[in-house]
Amino acid sequence: MLILGIETSCDETGVALFDSEQGLLAHALFSQIDMHADYGGVVPELASRDHVRKLLPLCDQVLADAGKARSDLDGIAYTAGPGLVGALMVGGSVAHALGFALGIPVLGVHHMEGHLLAPMLEDNPPAFPFVALLVSGGHTQLVRVDGIGAYEMLGESVDDAAGEAFDKAAKMLGLDYPGGPRVAALAEQGTPDRYRFPRPMTDRPGLDFSFSGLKTFTLNTVNAAREDGGLDDQTRADIALAFEAAVVDTLTIKCKRALEQTGCKRLVIAGGVSANKRLRAGLEKMTAKLRAGVFYARPEFCTDNGAMIAYAGAQRLKAGQQDGERIVAVPRWPM
Ligand code: KG4
Ligand code: ZN
Repeated sequence: MLILGIETSCDETGVALFDSEQGLLAHALFSQIDMHADYGGVVPELASRDHVRKLLPLCDQVLADAGKARSDLDGIAYTAGPGLVGALMVGGSVAHALGFALGIPVLGVHHMEGHLLAPMLEDNPPAFPFVALLVSGGHTQLVRVDGIGAYEMLGESVDDAAGEAFDKAAKMLGLDYPGGPRVAALAEQGTPDRYRFPRPMTDRPGLDFSFSGLKTFTLNTVNAAREDGGLDDQTRADIALAFEAAVVDTLTIKCKRALEQTGCKRLVIAGGVSANKRLRAGLEKMTAKLRAGVFYARPEFCTDNGAMIAYAGAQRLKAGQQDGERIVAVPRWPM
C-alpha cells in the first residue's frame, strides 16, 4: 500500500510517501518558522494561508522524488488534530479532495499518535509493549503502548507542556521562537551548578508533570540577575543550563518511575523536545542502569513532519479504517 501523509497542524507543512512493503520512499517539509519569528510565536491565519500555498506543490514533489504518480496512491492520511483549526482544515481539505478525485480511502489521524510512532521509521524500531514519553510544544504525556491504538495514559502535565516551558524560558532569556533548540544551544556555554532549579512534582508519587512553577522560577532568576545588573551572556547561559537540567531531570525521574511501574523494558521518546541532546543522554544513562532500551526518531522526525503521519495512517488504513465523506478537524483532541 502506497500512502501519502500530510501534516499541517501548526507551522510546518510536512508531506511524505510511505509504502507498507518498502518503507519510507520520500518526505518533504516546509517550515514557516521564519515567517512567524517576527511575531514571537505562530500566527494561526498566516499559518493556514501558507499551508494553502505550499501543500500541493510538496505533494507533487514527494511523488516526483519517489518516481510515482498520483494514480499510484492507495490511500491518504492527514493530521486531523489536535492543532490550529484553520491549519488542520487545509490538510484535511486537500487530503479529501485528492482522495475523492482518485477514488481512494482517506483517514484523519491523531497528531500525537504520529509522534508516538515516529521511532518506528528507524532501523531498529521498538517492539510492543513500550512506555512512550511524548514531549512537544503542546503535550507532555507518559503513555503505555501495547500496539497501534492500544494506549493507556499513565501521566501528563497538569499545566504547561515541556516544549512550551522551553519556549517561554527562551523568551525570558531574549531568544527567538522556537526556543527549545536555542535554549539548548545557549546552555552549552553554561556553568554547571551555578543555579539549581526545582524538579517539580518529583517528591511525590505519581506520573504527572507540572512545568509552570519552573517557568516562574526562571522568570524570578532572570529578574533578580537583571536587578543586580548581572544579566550578562554568561549568566543567561548559566540560567539556560539550570533550566534545561531541571526539565531533563524531571522527565528522567518520571520515565524511570513509569518503566518500573509497568515493568516495560523499552522507552520511546517522541515530539519536538525528544530532539534535545541532554534529554537523550539522561535517558540513555537511566535506562542503561535498568537494563532497558531507549528509542527515538532521527531529529527531523522528532519535530512535526509528514512521515510520521504517513506511517500512522498506513497502519490504520491497512486495518480498514477510513473517514466518511466529512473532513475531520479537531483542535482539542485527547489521545
Ligand atoms: O512536536 P513539535 O515539533 O510540535 C508540536 O507538536 O508541538 O514540538 C515543538 C516543540 C517546541 O516547543 C520546541 O521549542 C521544542 O519542541 N523543541 C525542543 C528542541 N527542539 C524542539 N526543545 C528542547 N530541545 C530541543 N532540541
Ligand atoms: Zn507535534
